[in-house]
Amino acid sequence: MRSSLIHSQAELHSQYGGVFPTLAKREHGKNLVPLLEKVLIEYSHNKIVSTTANHTATKIDATQKNNTETISNEHFEKTLREYESIIKDHDPDLWNSISHADFLKQKPHIDKIAVTEGPGLEPTLWVGINFARFLASLWQIPIVPINHMEGHIVASLLESDIVDGHFHKLKSLSLPALALLISGGHTELVKIHELGNYNIIGQTKDDAVGEAFDKVARILGLPYPGGPHISKLAEEAEVEGLESAIKLPRPMIGSKDLSFSFSGLKTAVLYVVKDYIKLHKKLDAQFKKSLCLEFERAVEETLSKKLIQAIEQNGIKSIIVGGGVIANKRLKKSFTRITDEYGIPIFLPSLHTSGDNALMIALAGALTRQDSNHANLRASGTKRLS
Ligand code: KG4
Ligand code: ZN
Repeated sequence: MRSSLIHSQAELHSQYGGVFPTLAKREHGKNLVPLLEKVLIEYSHNKIVSTTANHTATKIDATQKNNTETISNEHFEKTLREYESIIKDHDPDLWNSISHADFLKQKPHIDKIAVTEGPGLEPTLWVGINFARFLASLWQIPIVPINHMEGHIVASLLESDIVDGHFHKLKSLSLPALALLISGGHTELVKIHELGNYNIIGQTKDDAVGEAFDKVARILGLPYPGGPHISKLAEEAEVEGLESAIKLPRPMIGSKDLSFSFSGLKTAVLYVVKDYIKLHKKLDAQFKKSLCLEFERAVEETLSKKLIQAIEQNGIKSIIVGGGVIANKRLKKSFTRITDEYGIPIFLPSLHTSGDNALMIALAGALTRQDSNHANLRASGTKRLS
């Protein structure tokens, strides 16, 4: 890997208590080109570049090899004209930066471009797709459309996320494998027959688990994204030996199927907090900490129960956990304990690759043989793995 950069929008959205879609789209338009320039300046010797655009960050990753080729002014101008009607009105910021991006006339040694087609917020996905299409036309290389969730799967298989100019191998999987994908938008159990061949065997009926973390954080007056704040308070509660008098529900824990539901858990927290405020006027720090601990335990127990069910029902030989929520230490510990008990390997992403990043998209692109006719490339907000 030659270079991997992320421009996070988390702080910007934090003031809205969640992702503000129009702002997210505009920020992608502003940030993609400068971020690509940074990557190419740092590593002028590249092989794969991926750009992804979704709700939390604008990301670019570049991998391997040398030398550049000069693109003529005529070809640059012709490509700009070709894309003017597609980009100018929809993404004025992207258009403005592309039009002045002379550095793009030095084509790096890149074989293909991997871009996220979904799932995600469609307006933001379009920014990445349109930029990828422009680059592919300018540099005359293919595009590979990538499913964001497949990115999370391969991110957990990366041997190392260190930028050192080498191609990093993936850890080998025993099949069939099971991926538990837990992010801000998804909670899924995916059976992996082989990389590229997936079956969703369980999913949430309502909120995603990361969404529940974010909504509960909001109820408790904690900043967005809520996961890290809740997990910090829960850890403090444990260190201080605080126990919650409140018992939250463990939604669907008794059901035989592999469905999840987190919206009721969030509502339960809301009522507990309302009752507490009625009685005490405001939230007390210790109450918050112990409630965070109880919430995390409810999430942990629910996810663990379904993970065990899925392992037993499907003859699973290895486990992958992916998505931003697996940054959570309690969940990591719990899933590792389960796989130890079953004597099967578990693959977890590093802290850098658990949240959204372009490296995982580039990696999935490097593994894919199929190129796309990029005129047909579309953002697909609800794209599924199978
Ligand atoms: O995969 P991701 O970066 O973006 C999506 O594709 O959604 O996941 C973001 C989610 C957010 O909901 C965030 O609150 C959650 O991951 N998250 C955590 C932790 N760190 C991030 N949830 C629980 N504990 C954490 N330490
Ligand atoms: Zn994600």
